[in-house]
This record gives sequence, structure tokens and C-alpha cells, in this order.
Amino acid sequence: MTAKSTPVLDPASLLAWQIAMGVDEAIDEAPIDRFTAPSASAAQVQIPPTNTQRTETRGPRPIAAKPVQSIAGGSAETATAAAQQAQTLEELRAALEAFDGGLLKRSAKNLVFSDGIAGSPVMIVGEAPGADEDRMGKPFVGVSGQLLDRMLAAINMSREENVYISNILPWRPLGNRAPDDAVVAMCLPFIRRHIELAAPKVILLFGGVSAKALLETTEGITRMRGKWKALKIGSNDIPAMPIFHPAYLLRQPHLKGLAWRDLLNVKHKMAELSK
Ligand code: URA
Repeated sequence: MTAKSTPVLDPASLLAWQIAMGVDEAIDEAPIDRFTAPSASAAQVQIPPTNTQRTETRGPRPIAAKPVQSIAGGSAETATAAAQQAQTLEELRAALEAFDGGLLKRSAKNLVFSDGIAGSPVMIVGEAPGADEDRMGKPFVGVSGQLLDRMLAAINMSREENVYISNILPWRPLGNRAPDDAVVAMCLPFIRRHIELAAPKVILLFGGVSAKALLETTEGITRMRGKWKALKIGSNDIPAMPIFHPAYLLRQPHLKGLAWRDLLNVKHKMAELSK
């Protein structure tokens, strides 16, 4: 009988699997950094303790944890280099497919690149895919996407006709967690290049994460919404408006009136720009 060979999995995939399985606490007294721990084969060699060693503390050797960036994959610099090489949206998609997106990418089912009509006058940038988007590989296809479609229809716009849609993060964060700064910094060069290649006339930033990341501000969405800002992309200043995220409006329906006002503002801007 031949022994079955055990597949070798990398630590980030194992960690992603554990988080997906609901592991939320460590059972050892100190954290173990598997990225810097001795290799699995070395760790499996068990040397029986001698009598003099029996009083020593048992268990894994504690190792100082590395910053989150070590499991966040590529750095902002490698992301910038990869994104800038892309000369078309298809090349940008391919660059993301090839990029080391670390735990974020490995724990997602699909790359969520875009939906709608590339080259549209309006581009929407949301936060990150949710479970439905991850499954379908398209942004805003779940319940908040349905509200988004109704909001767009109210100003005679749609992703089938004149809107292009993407997100700050092209992969779903595990458990829909709010993206941390390292992950946003890694994804930002891609969405900035995405905007540059899609070349919209105006950008709608749905939600605080999107507005803060692209406008490089710490100001909250409640203060920013409804105000046009200039988003510098390449050599262009593109008018960009932060708007409440549809998922937030589903939880706070009394704010829909403000979002409606902002959408009318967008409609007027588009009329102005097409004069
Ligand atoms: N929320 C977002 O910000 N983007 C999506 O694609 C879906 C939900």
C-alpha cells in the first residue's frame, strides 16, 4: 500500500480557510506567526524531552507578529507598477488576475472588476464586493445593487446604458469586514488607473470608504455627501461627488431624501457638461 501524499498549503490560504470556518480565537497562550515559524517539516520533528528538560515551558515558541501587510500581499508600490503598465481595461483586469493580493484575494471566490458600459460619462465607485458580488464576479448585484439600480433609474441612468461601476476593493473581504488601511493602500493604485482608463466625465463615490480613499480625507460621508470635489487622476481633475451608500440607505431609509437631492445634483451636472 502506498502512503497518500498530503497537499502542501501555504499559510495565508490556511488562515483564510480558518477564518472562513469561523475561527475567531486563538487557543494557545501566545500568537504564532506561521510566516516566520520554522518550516512544517522541521516543526514536525519531535525530540522527546530529557529529564533535565521536563521543567521547561511546553508548547509553541512565541514569535513577534509581523504587520498585517505581510498577509495583505503586494505593496502599494508593486500595485502602482502593475497598474501603470496596463494600457487598456482588459490589461488592467489581467494585471489584477496576476497580482499577489494576499489573503484578500485568496479568500475571495472571484475577481470583481466592473459592470456597466466602459467609457460611460458616469462612473460609480463603491467600497467592496459582498457575498453576491463575489459569487457572480460583478459589482452591486445584491440587495444594495438593486437599490442602486432604482436610484439610477430615477435620473434616467442605468448600467445597461450610460453608467460604469467598480469598487475600491476588487475582492470581497472575508466576512464583509471593513477593509483595513494596508488593503486599501494596496488596491488604490488599481482603482485610480481604472478610472483613468475608463475616463468618465463624473465620478460618484458611494459610501465613506470610497470617498475617503479616493479623496484622501478623513472627513465623514455625512459632511462630504452632495458636494462636488475635484479628483485628480493623471493630468485631469474629474468632478467627484460622495453619496450615501445604498446599503447605508437600506439601514437608514429616512436619509433617502438627501440621496435623492444629490442625484438631482448629478443630473444637473450632466446636463451642464453636455451643453
Ligand atoms: N457594496 C459595494 O460597495 N460594492 C458592491 O459591489 C456591493 C456592495
